[in-house]
Amino acid sequence: MTLDELEIKCKGCTACELCNGRTNLVFGVGKKDADIMLIGEGPGENEDLQGQPFVGRSGQLLDKFLDSVDLSRNKNVYIANMVKCRPPKNRDPKPEEQEQCIKWLREQFKIIKPKIVICVGRISAQRLIDKDFRVTKQHGEFIDKNGTLFMGTYHPAAILRNPNNKELAFGDWLKVRDKIEELGIEI
Ligand code: URA
Repeated sequence: MTLDELEIKCKGCTACELCNGRTNLVFGVGKKDADIMLIGEGPGENEDLQGQPFVGRSGQLLDKFLDSVDLSRNKNVYIANMVKCRPPKNRDPKPEEQEQCIKWLREQFKIIKPKIVICVGRISAQRLIDKDFRVTKQHGEFIDKNGTLFMGTYHPAAILRNPNNKELAFGDWLKVRDKIEELGIEI
């Protein structure tokens, strides 16, 4: 199956109650065979309205970080979320919602085959790296999982709330750039 075919299937998903509140399902965006994949938490209001991940204020900050290390959703990364439909009032996605939705993410992984996965924020890091992941303690650390490198970093929304974390987050993105170089990944 291609990513486009998977997206069409996914758009009909009614596996959890989040489907009832969606304007648009937010499948993901970017290079279809990207070596670098980013996983956020779930769509917010702007994302739900536009059907694209990270298009609000958080997204603008994320794009700035990406741009600073020569990465871009238009060129060399793929961006998706743990859940594809907006949780009401931007609450955290429930474990059972994540459990249903991760099936789509697994299919996306299989098709895209990223070499590096960046978990943007606590929710995806705790589901994909370590259930007790602490962003403040473990951000910027690469972990090899079956040949794919996973790293967790600050969510841009957390940085907008606490700008003191901006430098630390920027440091993580510099580490991504170094890792890309170390592995000889062409971006
Ligand atoms: N926050 C996320 O985690 N994902 C989005 O797509 C937008 C905001």
